[in-house]
Amino acid sequence: MAHAVYAFDAYGTLFDVHAAVRRYSGGIGADAQLLSDIWRQKQLEYSWVRALMGRYEDFWTLTEQALDFALRKVPSADPALRDQLLEAYRGLDCYPEIPKVLTALRDKGARLAILSNGSPAMLESAARSAGIADLFEEIISVDEIRTYKTDEAVYELITTRFRVYPEAVSFQSSNRWDVAGASAFGFRTVWVNRSEQPDEYQDLPPAAVLTSLDGLLALD
Ligand code: LAC
Repeated sequence: MAHAVYAFDAYGTLFDVHAAVRRYSGGIGADAQLLSDIWRQKQLEYSWVRALMGRYEDFWTLTEQALDFALRKVPSADPALRDQLLEAYRGLDCYPEIPKVLTALRDKGARLAILSNGSPAMLESAARSAGIADLFEEIISVDEIRTYKTDEAVYELITTRFRVYPEAVSFQSSNRWDVAGASAFGFRTVWVNRSEQPDEYQDLPPAAVLTSLDGLLALD
């Protein structure tokens, strides 16, 4: 294979971040998607702001704080669902094609990793409940360096751990900003544009764009 290591972003790429709210959408009503979008956007904003300030708090804490904000912002959602939503976030579904694609890559000799902002415990629990934990050689969290993507030190965790140059790594993310960071670092990048977002960060383009991870093996 042209790339020895395949590293995957977790949330939005392997795990469906909207699955938690969807599970309780009956109790949330018409604003369920809005709640989920605000929850995700605030979780990410907190990571960028804290990384810039050098005031790290782990991603689970940010996920809780972001949900608290979202629940206040969307008053039609029942705040009593807080604990159930957080519990669901620990056991998010993975996208349907993931087990098959990961297994095929591994069978071809690729070394697989997760590289995520998620805290170690939340990554472990999501990967276990989705049944994909054993397919990865490494589940790497930013927690060991206490900063967040797109700090280049995060992408360096992969090259250090696997002892490879960036060109040996294919990095897959559904987050265009994460693709920009990984491209800047020198990875071959694949943007999994699941929700047909417009392109951005044009000076840091992905090497390929897919609508799901299904086409990944055909790329090289
Ligand atoms: C992650 C977030 C950014 O898993 O989706 O790193």
